[in-house]
Order: sequence, then C-alpha cells, then structure tokens
Amino acid sequence: MDCNVRPESMLRITTKELADKFIDEQVELVRRQVGDKKVLLALSGGVDSSVVAALLIKAIGKQLVCVHVNHGLMRKGESEQVIEIFGKELDANLVYVDATDRFLGLLEDVADPEKKRKIIGGEFIKVFDEEASKLEGISFLAQGTIYPDILESIKAAESGKPVKSHHNVGGLPEDMQFELVEPIKLLYKDEVRVVGEALGLPHAMVYRQPFPGPGLGVRCLGAITRDRLEALREADAILREEFDNCGLAEKVWQYFVAIPDMKSVGVRNDMRYEGWPAIIRAVNTKDAMVATIEEIPYSVLHKITDRITGEVEGINRVLLDLTPKPTGTIEWE
Ligand code: XMP
Repeated sequence: MDCNVRPESMLRITTKELADKFIDEQVELVRRQVGDKKVLLALSGGVDSSVVAALLIKAIGKQLVCVHVNHGLMRKGESEQVIEIFGKELDANLVYVDATDRFLGLLEDVADPEKKRKIIGGEFIKVFDEEASKLEGISFLAQGTIYPDILESIKAAESGKPVKSHHNVGGLPEDMQFELVEPIKLLYKDEVRVVGEALGLPHAMVYRQPFPGPGLGVRCLGAITRDRLEALREADAILREEFDNCGLAEKVWQYFVAIPDMKSVGVRNDMRYEGWPAIIRAVNTKDAMVATIEEIPYSVLHKITDRITGEVEGINRVLLDLTPKPTGTIEWE
C-alpha cells in the first residue's frame, strides 16, 4: 500500500475522541520508527509544525530537537509564543535562533519582491542547516506535511509544473540525509486543528490564519527598513486584536496590514506629519486561488483607523484594499 495515499476507510477526524485515537496510534508509530534516535524539526509556530511538535514531544520527549528560526519578519509576539509554549510549558528541547540582523542585513536595499522571497527562503535554509550541523546524532527530520501538500505535489508532478515556489520556504535542503517523520501527512487542515486542540495547544495557535513563509517581508513593500517593519508589526497587531474583539477573526480567512514604501503629508498635534499609509486587507477564500473581500463594518474600521494612526509611530493614514483575487493576489508582493 502506498503510504502517501489516505485509505478510504480512514475516518475524518472531527471529534476529540477520534483525535485522541489518532494521537495514540501516531505516538506508537513514531516510537517504533525512531527508537532511541534523535529527530529534528523546524518549528515555525504555524499550525502544522506546532501540531507535529506537540505530537512528537508526547511520543519521544527530549529526543525531539525543535529549531525555531526568527527571521525578524514574524508577527508581534509570535516567536515569544513559541518559546513560551514549547520551551516552557511543554519543556521541549528548543533551539531558538534570533537571525533578525542576518536577514534584515541581506534584505537591505532589496526592493524586488522575487529577490526578497529568494533571499528569505535561501537564508532560512542556510540558518536551519547551520543549526542542524551543530547538533549531534540526528537521524530523522520531522515535517508538518499535510494531505493537501501531497495532493498538490502529485498534481504538480502529473502536470509537469513545479510546486509553487512560495511553498519552498523552510523546505528540505537537498543534501540533507535524514529519514522523514511526517505524522500528520494524511490529515486535512481541519483535522490537524482538531488534533492540535486534543494535544492541548492553545485555540489561537491552532486556528491561526495562514501566514506566508517570508512573513512580514512581503507586506513591508519594497526595500524593508526597520522603522517601517516595526510600524507594520504594530499596526498588524492592532488589526488582529480588533478583529478578535468584534468576532471577525473567526470568520475571515486572512487579514493583515501592508505598508508601501511611500509617505504622504498629514498632520498630528497641529504639526505637519509625514507618514506611511497602513493598508488593510481582509479576504475570504477556499483554496487561495480566488478570493473575495470581507465586508468590515465602518464602526470597526473607524476604531482600527483611530488606533493605528494614534498608536503607531510613522503611520498617518489607513487605507482599505477592496480588490478581490483576481485581479489582486492576496499578498501585495
Ligand atoms: P497570493 O498572494 O499568491 O497568496 O494570492 C496565496 C496564499 O499563499 C500565501 N503566500 C505564501 N505562503 N510562502 C508561503 O508559505 C510565500 O512565499 C507565500 N506567498 C503567499 C498567502 O499568504 C496566501 O495565503
């Protein structure tokens, strides 16, 4: 039997009971596969890698080494949450790498979106590779592959078209000789979330909206500067907080702020105040191939605007992006 094909008899995991059964089975399988060897995992803090981490911690404890690379393009509080949950609460063997200066240094003055993506993806693999080579006795590499990834690869192989380049961030370095551990590879995303909650991960982590590998790098448009990146991180945190407060967070597929490399004239405290505009984007989609725009009540928009322009240094306007996909892509870069 091809172990990359989901058996027809496999029940859809929709309840805690089914999730617990799946977890018990996987714990057993992972223990059998790994024995007393060590496993390495790139832990981004996204849903899939977090669920794999929690599952493997349950199965093999400290034999799992999680490496979290902070490329400096994470959202507010994200790396801290990884350290808090995995490093402290779950007492994982966690290697935290703050590579902010390295990434931002390489990205300085680079305005071309594709070049930015390549730098971030390439550097991510390099940093991960360096960390891996410092570790002794690693035999396995765990990955948060899920069933749609497998289906997409099969489709891509059949059509002769490569898998979308943007799925390569954090991908497997070609010359790494590890055996793979992929405990959730036959699960759909909704099942991964049910399993994550059954493993005790926080709801907010398990139901986190999708976040691109290059992170805020593709939302800090053009050449990234530290001050604009910081403004973006703060504005995005306010947007997320207000979406949480009004219930939109549960309803909208993806919502974020982008900031262009452009200033306009404004006024603050009776003084001329040149600042960047914060662009709000909130979209709904099933497959990220086409997307529609979520309607946000004006009262919510006003509140977000007041908070962003009042609280975030460097921003003097808030704009709303009403473009569906097509013609816009979901991200601005
Ligand atoms: P676009 O902008 O292509 O985005 O309409 C579709 C979905 O993919 C996400 N996205 C990425 N994910 N690495 C990723 O892992 C990337 O480079 C990347 N670019 C876009 C985007 O956030 C949206 O959910």
